[in-house]
Amino acid sequence: MTESLPVRIFPDRTAASRTLAEEVAALVRSINDSGRPAVLGLATGRTPLPFYAELTRLHREGKLSFARVVTFNLDEYLGLPGNHPESYRAFMQKELFGHVDIPVENIHIPDGMVGPAELEAHCAAYEEAIRAAGGIDFQLLGIGRTGHIGFNEPGSPRESRTRRVELDPITRQDAAPAFGGLEHVPEYAISMGCGTILEARRIALLAWGSAKAGIVREALTGPVTDQVSASFLQDHADATFYLDSEAGAEL
Ligand code: GLP
Repeated sequence: MTESLPVRIFPDRTAASRTLAEEVAALVRSINDSGRPAVLGLATGRTPLPFYAELTRLHREGKLSFARVVTFNLDEYLGLPGNHPESYRAFMQKELFGHVDIPVENIHIPDGMVGPAELEAHCAAYEEAIRAAGGIDFQLLGIGRTGHIGFNEPGSPRESRTRRVELDPITRQDAAPAFGGLEHVPEYAISMGCGTILEARRIALLAWGSAKAGIVREALTGPVTDQVSASFLQDHADATFYLDSEAGAEL
């Protein structure tokens, strides 16, 4: 089958993550050398864990500093305070930020506790902060079973921006074990939009394991449709899929 964007298939997730981490470290260094901070868009979920472990290793070995890195996370659950163990803020602290030299003021994650009256202004301010930082140099993505990137569930328009989104029942089901039951999974989140994500200058989507093989094939070889928001990447000038052999098995 022909894919409409570059796909790199690795023997396993560690090899893929190591390669990408080295590429991102080189990108950060070259942007920093040009005299400005590097702007990274970051993702959560199980998928990026080996990638964050590799970034942490590079930092520990003195090969990567986050002193001039600015980050924007894709999304956050609505209704969860930052100290809730399942919040994406807590996840990022535990898996990456707590291990590297990033200045706390350089970290941006939507606020899950923002009230309904402030929600729209909060989302607009998030978009403005990305613009003020000069736009995203590199965006990391996973893919949900519904084909979502960030929390852009089926029906999310190509032009969508940071906003409140309702989680798909499949997405909530996938999150249920971590929350100790479906009834504890939030129903809404704040997510960067498809339009926000697609403005990143470079994008890498990671997927591991056979459970992702079908949706990876659909995103890469199916029609470009808002029913599979990852399919919008087909029209991006510099997006690459990094897969292990299982996630790439249906290509
Ligand atoms: C959540 C996140 C996505 C992530 C997806 C897949 O929905 N908002 O950013 O890509 O889960 O999760 P996992 O990587 O655990 O398979």
